[in-house]
Amino acid sequence: MMKKQQLTIALSKGRILEETLPLLEAANIIPAENIFKSRKLIFDTNHDNIKFVVIRATDVPTYVEYGGADMGIAGKDVLMEHGGKGLYEQLDLEIAKCKLMVAGLTGAAPVEGRMRIATKFVNIARQYFAQQGCQVDLVKLYGAMELAPIMGLADRIVDIVDTGNTLRANGLEPMDFIANISSRLVVGEPAMKMKYRQIQPIIDMMSDAVVKRR
Ligand code: ADP
Ligand code: PRP
Ligand code: MG
Repeated sequence: MMKKQQLTIALSKGRILEETLPLLEAANIIPAENIFKSRKLIFDTNHDNIKFVVIRATDVPTYVEYGGADMGIAGKDVLMEHGGKGLYEQLDLEIAKCKLMVAGLTGAAPVEGRMRIATKFVNIARQYFAQQGCQVDLVKLYGAMELAPIMGLADRIVDIVDTGNTLRANGLEPMDFIANISSRLVVGEPAMKMKYRQIQPIIDMMSDAVVKRR
């Protein structure tokens, strides 16, 4: 039998981690200790050749692209913003569903001339407004985008909307739809070439778990 190769799976810490673990468990990959109670970044699993690294959601595509991890789980928003170079999207995990939207102050008038857009998704926003034929200036933020129009920092934001509670609580409203978002399983180019025989059954088992969850 062929020797099992080392496999590293990059997980997004934060809000998708909790929903990610049951899908991995369905593929019989279980962390050796409670990830939520540990300050560790690397976790052993019930397989001596499989490890998890638990990192910021936005860093997952970078790790997988450069082979620092063989595969990873990240939101489609993060993958779109990264651009997808060196990544193969293998599975829609159908978790952390939300929308990428343009939003602004409730009842705000259309903007004459260049709009100023605050977002952490500058690449997505640049591409979206270019497609719309809109001239925009982008302001990069790292969170709490909803604050920007209130403080006069921007005319509009591009951000994740789920329930709409954050927009409403801050006097904003959704304006334009950009994309439906959910979390995806991605495999990096090196792993795709060298480890696919080992990865494929994992993807298949996770895929079954996604279908069962529906
Ligand atoms: P970050 O700290 O980078 O914002 P989060 O843990 O908040 O990371 O979010 C991780 C991923 O979860 C996002 O990339 C997105 O795909 C999804 N997500 C973010 N906000 C929501 C939300 N309010 N509802 C559902 N999914 C969300
Ligand atoms: C996310 C997103 C929105 C909010 C949308 O923020 O950036 O602010 O959730 O969800 P809602 O429509 O259900 O209110 P998050 O809580 O992740 O904060 P952060 O990313 O800015 O830390
Ligand atoms: Mg967040």
